[in-house]
Amino acid sequence: MRLVHLTDPHLSDLGNVSYASLRGKRWSGYLSWRKNRRKKYLPAVLEKLSVAVRAEEADQVLVTGDLVHIGLESEIRQAAQWLKQLAAPDQLMLVPGNHDVYAQGSDELVRRLWGEYLFHGCDGQDTRFPVVRQLDGLRLIGVSTACTTPLFMATGKLGQTQLSSLSELLKSAASEHQPVCLLIHHPPLPGMTNWRKELSDAESLQKLLERFPPALIFHGHLHHNREQQFGNTRICCTAAASSVSDASYRVVDIEPRGDVINFRMRLKTIAMDDQDKLQFVTVDEQTWQQAG
Ligand SMILES: [Fe+2]
Ligand SMILES: [Fe+2]
Repeated sequence: MRLVHLTDPHLSDLGNVSYASLRGKRWSGYLSWRKNRRKKYLPAVLEKLSVAVRAEEADQVLVTGDLVHIGLESEIRQAAQWLKQLAAPDQLMLVPGNHDVYAQGSDELVRRLWGEYLFHGCDGQDTRFPVVRQLDGLRLIGVSTACTTPLFMATGKLGQTQLSSLSELLKSAASEHQPVCLLIHHPPLPGMTNWRKELSDAESLQKLLERFPPALIFHGHLHHNREQQFGNTRICCTAAASSVSDASYRVVDIEPRGDVINFRMRLKTIAMDDQDKLQFVTVDEQTWQQAG
């Protein structure tokens, strides 16, 4: 089975937005885009990455949020088009990030316009997190930490209801000996980022992860490549998918063999080839085994 992880594409172009749509926090987000982000996150880089990801023929593409910058309807529609050309809803699992639900009204739009990806396979009108997808020998669980925050804050929160549901899901996966891969936008443990960007209930999540450790956790939000071992859990952050300096994605091949599971993870990052063409090259490869 093959998974691909990518995150934080920040794909939208704010060049044509009307100033009337930029009230409150959106003004500062827009100014940040004008000053920095529009030079750092390029649609052309994301297009290259999308082509490379499609060529990997993954069983499941995992996207951990921040598709847009300031949660405007025009951006969320643009992102819906990008999702469609990347993979079908049954082959792409998505959780939202803080930039997707940036301001009032964004969350409703995200749920409506990305719903077929966010809640694929969920019962009818059920649009609550966590969401679960069962693959052959691997259970994917997605949580939402995305919430609208005050100016200059980019924190996330799971909340008690989601933590309780997640606890039940991890417990039942453990009792069924089902390895779990968790998708979350914010870094899951305390101290992984500063107070302005952290997950506010990371301590509660850490306790859960200690009791029922997933095999893998993929997250975003930090915009750099990083791996960390936490007990039996491998925690991976991948750089922003449109970053002009280090756009990346991960390819994870998972093979059950008897009573162990073999993992092979390759990190692929953007680089210039001999003819000055952008391509994605493997910059790191790791293999490991876990009890099945
Ligand atoms: Fe981001
Ligand atoms: Fe983020």
